[in-house]
Amino acid sequence: MKYPKEYLEEIKTRLKVSSVVSKTVQLKKRGKEFVGLSPFKTEKTPSFTVNDEKGFYHCFSTSEHGNIFDFVMKTQNLKFGEAVKFLANLAGLQPYTFSKKDLEREKAWQNYSLIFNQYVQFYHENLLINENSNIAREYLKNRKLSKEEVNKFKIGYVEKNPNFYKKLIKEFDEKTLITTGLFYLDEKKNVYVERFRDRIIFPINSISGKPIGLGGRTIRENNYLAKYINSPETPFFKKGSNLYNLDIARKFSNKIDHVYLVEGYMDVVGLSKNGIENVVANLGTSLTDRQILILNQFFDDVIICFDGDDSGYRAALRAAENSIKELLPEKQISFLFLPDNEDPDSFANKNGKDSFIDFSKKNKIFIHQFIFEHYKKETDNNPSSMAIFEKKLREIANTIKDKFIKKYILEYFLEQISSLTPHTNNNKKQYRRKKASSLKATQRYFQESKSLSQIEVKEFSLLYLIINNLDIFQENIHLIEKMRLFTNENKLVFDAVISKLKSGNKLTIDDLSIDKQLIDRIIKFSSIKYILENYQHDQEKIFDLLQEIKRDLKNYELETRIEELESKFAQDFSENTFNEIKELKKLQNIN
Ligand code: UTP
Ligand code: MN
Repeated sequence: MKYPKEYLEEIKTRLKVSSVVSKTVQLKKRGKEFVGLSPFKTEKTPSFTVNDEKGFYHCFSTSEHGNIFDFVMKTQNLKFGEAVKFLANLAGLQPYTFSKKDLEREKAWQNYSLIFNQYVQFYHENLLINENSNIAREYLKNRKLSKEEVNKFKIGYVEKNPNFYKKLIKEFDEKTLITTGLFYLDEKKNVYVERFRDRIIFPINSISGKPIGLGGRTIRENNYLAKYINSPETPFFKKGSNLYNLDIARKFSNKIDHVYLVEGYMDVVGLSKNGIENVVANLGTSLTDRQILILNQFFDDVIICFDGDDSGYRAALRAAENSIKELLPEKQISFLFLPDNEDPDSFANKNGKDSFIDFSKKNKIFIHQFIFEHYKKETDNNPSSMAIFEKKLREIANTIKDKFIKKYILEYFLEQISSLTPHTNNNKKQYRRKKASSLKATQRYFQESKSLSQIEVKEFSLLYLIINNLDIFQENIHLIEKMRLFTNENKLVFDAVISKLKSGNKLTIDDLSIDKQLIDRIIKFSSIKYILENYQHDQEKIFDLLQEIKRDLKNYELETRIEELESKFAQDFSENTFNEIKELKKLQNIN
């Protein structure tokens, strides 16, 4: 049963990881962390660390990693619910009482899930071994699907005259069976029949991998039956918030930053067969903003890849207008149109993985470009039509929720429009230009400051401190000459400044011949300039600030090194590496 997130968060805030762990493992404090002997393995040197700030434990010798719930589940062999009860009690919280409705829903979900599991398993096996399924196997063979894909996607085949209902009704009541959407009442004959008769079925899983719906393709060449049918909406299957293959695709999000969103089940299977697994499909309905949000939680770039036909194009446009609302900074939504008469499945089968990826890189366009180009095509070069065009684009930009993105896209639209209408009256154009460029400045500052790393900002502060106090640092060059910077450009400038300071000549900022643009950036982004304003030429304060920056840079260096070593350790498990990590962590804490 699902506990409300807030309840779990409350437990986590009340209980430090170290206080939970220390009930069973003896911990020693080491700087910000605690260490102890791993509870998952007998060992002599401690390899088990606990970090209260991050709310996690990590065991270097077994790679076990988790929060307090994981810890209690693993060490006391409890189920999640039991761990919650145990920890709630420890945290001094009342046990969570589920309402009657919660309990009923949970029971209904259990049954729903049991039925779907049985159904999917039964017809999957049916496809693999039953003689009645020859025709389906033949069909899949013709489509170049091997057993591997059939197994991976648990594809099944429901025969022409199935009778699984009769089997299930022994175990579940009628109402429960009907809720699944797998059966419906044939009113003429007054019997329950299966919805997916004589179809290949593709199980649609929840994000955690449990089947909750189906898509079914007919295997006959005819046009009086729909080629595909999908499960109806049920209490546990909402088309607008689920995606086919999301449970598998999301596992790739730690390696790959983009995901392909395609139209059909076979596109997912076909791409996956060709080695592209970061792919999902929406479910025979138009794309919802909720689906985009879900994808953006895992991937930075959602590439909507619809078929190269008219209906694919119209679906893409609808998707664009729906999803642009949810566009967020640092996230992208792009569109990819395949050549005429191709879909991702056929394209990848014909040309292979690399061509598909290559084609995608060269041809995808951003959502705002797509929308602009589409409405531009619909416009004639006359004032009334242009007015409608501008109005439409403004309306679309206005639906965007994030205010930075909204500004940026509106600006893009307006700039594009004004470049289309060079003959319209000049004042108006200038006004637009001006407005657009101020929007651009906001957007640029936002983008720039976001793209700076913390370390760059630190380095800017250091350079700012030095160039504003050249005389002080010339006399105290020993304080800075051994420092190490990490960003290439800053490093070069820093080294040049040091050597000039060492030359002994009296210097002004102009003598340093630092690139003007870099100076501007240093002034703009150095975070200490506001502090320094109040302490001009106060040597003591300046040295304090320097000390602080030095410590941060040193820690950054240590952190980078530790990260390197930790990933090395995850591969070689060498004692030496581990000891080196330990030493560095000690240093980090002394700092
Ligand atoms: P397509 O007609 O483009 O099929 O439908 P496809 O994916 O290329 O399938 P194959 O290659 O012929 O097997 C794309 C998607 O649109 C929905 C389904 O979700 C399908 O995967 N659809 C299509 C339906 O819901 N009903 C239909 O009758 C057709
Ligand atoms: Mn197809």
